Amino acid sequence: MRGMNSASVDLVCLDPPFNSRNDYAAAAGSRAEGMGFQDTWSREDVDPAWLDLIEAKHPSVWQVLRAAALESDRAYLAYMAVRLLEVSRLLKRTGSLYLHCDPTMSHYLKLVLDAIFGRQRFLNEIVWSYGLGGSSKRAYSRKHDIILFYSVSKEYTFTKPQVSSSSARMKGAPKGMLDVWTDVPALNNMARERTGYPKQKPLALLRRIVAASSREGDLVLDPFSGCATALVAAEELSRNWAGIDVDRRAHRLLLARMRELTEPVLTIEHRTDAPRRTDLEGPVAKNTSRMVNCLLEEQRTRCFGCRRDGLQGELEPVHIIDTEQGGSRQLDNLMLLCPICKRARSARSKDYFLARLSDPDGTHFA
Ligand SMILES: C[S@@+](CC[C@H](N)C(=O)[O-])C[C@H]1O[C@@H](n2cnc3c(N)ncnc32)[C@H](O)[C@@H]1O
Ligand SMILES: [Zn+2]
Repeated sequence: MRGMNSASVDLVCLDPPFNSRNDYAAAAGSRAEGMGFQDTWSREDVDPAWLDLIEAKHPSVWQVLRAAALESDRAYLAYMAVRLLEVSRLLKRTGSLYLHCDPTMSHYLKLVLDAIFGRQRFLNEIVWSYGLGGSSKRAYSRKHDIILFYSVSKEYTFTKPQVSSSSARMKGAPKGMLDVWTDVPALNNMARERTGYPKQKPLALLRRIVAASSREGDLVLDPFSGCATALVAAEELSRNWAGIDVDRRAHRLLLARMRELTEPVLTIEHRTDAPRRTDLEGPVAKNTSRMVNCLLEEQRTRCFGCRRDGLQGELEPVHIIDTEQGGSRQLDNLMLLCPICKRARSARSKDYFLARLSDPDGTHFA
């Protein structure tokens, strides 16, 4: 995503790992055999640069991370927050986002999204209630997922789906869709569209979302595309699409599913390298002293590492996310450090994660 241009995407559908503390593998003999993903989280999964980014540039998101009780939850939220921040950069003003999760983390993810998009841009918490799934003797059986729906601005694309009314008085007349969806069953073992990919979602769910929140020719992005359900729905509805998945084998299912469509897709670009942004020409990026002045306005004369003040002449701009990791030379990816902190930065250990999130004075570099 770091290689994609800002304001280039119309709709983002994300169905990431849910922090379920399970790891998933496709069933042997299924079309997805050998594929799967991990959903257990620890400090090992956190890149300290993400924390720099969140703390330096998005303090309200940082507060949400600090509010999470468990270290594994903080790790998961840090991982989600950097991706959701990137998604918000990619979306157009008219764009919107649907984040599929479940009640394990939906309350925290909602706070993260409120912090990124603004509370007033929250549109719905959709309850997708399905028949399959767990039963419990000690609690009510859990039979629903949560889909959080946010827009970038007030001018977002939306065509409200109509369903036929079930009430006797309305006699099947069309009425606007509610935020509780009970009419889309989960995929059972016999479903024709089932690929065997873990946590595959029904096409009907994604068709509804794509149809409501994008137009023909729009670009739909799924940054956790798995076996490509959202992308197949986008293709069927004549949208452009882009999908990303860390599972390097998942694209095989995407190609296979796209070939099976009534009108098979002929041109699909599959790349394993990161694209390069072409929208980075800006006066600030080329002029270091101007850049430092802007950062001084943001940070005052304080080192972002040790918090020592009055260091005007000594502070140097440092990339928060390295350029090799796709970080750009833009103000939103730069911070000012004193020479000592600049050196200490590369020597930070993983233990740093815990200390950093629970350190009230923020003297973590010293
Ligand atoms: C719940 S599944 C998505 C299923 C998909 N909606 C479908 O219907 O097939 C989550 C996906 O996120 C992918 N994933 C996990 N971490 C990722 C990361 N850091 N970047 C990209 N994809 C990731 C996993 O490989 C998995 O395919
Ligand atoms: Zn310092």
